[in-house]
Amino acid sequence: MSNVKKAEGKLGVLVVGLGAVSSTFMTGVLMTRKGLAKPVGSMTQYDRIRVGEGADKKYLKYNEIVPLADLNDIVFGAWDVYPQNAYESAINCEVLKEKDINPVKDELEKIVPMKAAFDHNYAKRLTGDNVKQCATRWDMVEQLREDIRNFKKENGVDRVVVLWAASTEVYVPVDEKVHNTMADLEAAMKADDREHIAPSMCYAYAALAEGAPFIMGAPNTTVDIPAMWEMAEKTKMPIAGKDFKTGQTLVKSGFAPIIGTRCLGLNGWFSTNILGNRDGLVLDEPANFRTKEVSKLSTLESILVPEEQPDLYAHGNDEDTQYYHKVRINYYPPRNDNKEGWDNIDIFGWMGYPMQIKINFLCRDSILAAPLCLDLVLLSDLAARNGRYGIQRFLSFFLKSPMHDYTKDEVPVNHLFQQYTMLKNAIREMGGYKADEAID
Ligand SMILES: NC(=O)c1ccc[n+]([C@@H]2O[C@H](COP(=O)([O-])OP(=O)(O)OC[C@H]3O[C@@H](n4cnc5c(N)ncnc54)[C@H](O)[C@@H]3O)[C@@H](O)[C@H]2O)c1
Repeated sequence: MSNVKKAEGKLGVLVVGLGAVSSTFMTGVLMTRKGLAKPVGSMTQYDRIRVGEGADKKYLKYNEIVPLADLNDIVFGAWDVYPQNAYESAINCEVLKEKDINPVKDELEKIVPMKAAFDHNYAKRLTGDNVKQCATRWDMVEQLREDIRNFKKENGVDRVVVLWAASTEVYVPVDEKVHNTMADLEAAMKADDREHIAPSMCYAYAALAEGAPFIMGAPNTTVDIPAMWEMAEKTKMPIAGKDFKTGQTLVKSGFAPIIGTRCLGLNGWFSTNILGNRDGLVLDEPANFRTKEVSKLSTLESILVPEEQPDLYAHGNDEDTQYYHKVRINYYPPRNDNKEGWDNIDIFGWMGYPMQIKINFLCRDSILAAPLCLDLVLLSDLAARNGRYGIQRFLSFFLKSPMHDYTKDEVPVNHLFQQYTMLKNAIREMGGYKADEAID
């Protein structure tokens, strides 16, 4: 028997950023509700998990194991720097065809973004003016908290999840003096320390303070700091991040285990992309790309570990201590949201003889991200009803750079199939079944 509180009433989904990913996510959910589209790629809607063993085993969908919120109970809201509503955004982003947007036009038009908590220094390429006037970062938090409270009241919503699907901010390195404790973080917000307090941190703080789980879909530092873990513990709210694992990194975290499992060697892995949407434009700025680069590079490190297998993974870079791993994103407008990724993988086999693998993924960024948004939202809401709080490691499956307690040298799990086991076991446990490590 599941020990999770039932999903009663409406679930507010407040999305930071109303761009390509968010408008595709919202349109898909609304179209699915009308029976006009299928939520392909969503684990919560399609996957079946085995529960029980031997003669008792059965394969159940997630909502047959745990009480997930129903898609019909979702109410969307958003913040954005630009004033376009979700319909205008979906049309402008050109991810979906008009025929797949128009049947839910009325509902999308009602999703009008609230003024963003924004600082131009964190995303220089954005010029929108649908922005809050804030005296300090603390004032920013207060205004966001008020937005969440008003949204709940106006929509008769019982629970809220806040999802960051806004642009990647410039890289904010963790600073122990500011980011280690809640007291220091709050003091910095009150002192309007704009260098160390990114707007995204204000959204996260506001969400947690209002009793809402917070999910970081970009690679931003935001909740990946001890002060936010403390906040999540204090408020008993789940947090998850960072960076949706959608295209190239999904392939990487699924493919690298082939090399590792077969004990093949790796000299280098070069990944490059061309991308032409607004995300690509923002990432064309070196300081914003740095945030993404750190996130994308972390994937291989815990799957192919030079210290564990020096013969296989400790050669290839300039110092010959590790394989060479390079990631590039190139802004190329003609492709818009249809990102093309290339991977060149230099491996070696028996007696060190070199071989190459090439992967060319012609993907659609927002089409891959939308189901992740749905799954992360539904599973964070589930976790909150189950009394789970702090970093939700079982959600690593959906994330490029899974959060982990680096102050205790915890190693994140990046291996896609280990992450899947963690996901299945969390669902099993919440459903009152035993966790296990069997492969099916
Ligand atoms: N699509 C994918 O496959 C994928 C994968 C991993 C991560 N992401 C991340 O998801 C995010 C969204 O991607 P997208 O393609 O929708 O980008 P987008 O540029 O289309 O949309 C982002 C929106 O966020 C808004 N924004 C920026 N800062 C804001 C703030 N402080 N408050 C409110 N709104 C703000 C922008 O105005 C923009 O409309 C990006 O950070 C991207 O890196 C996407």
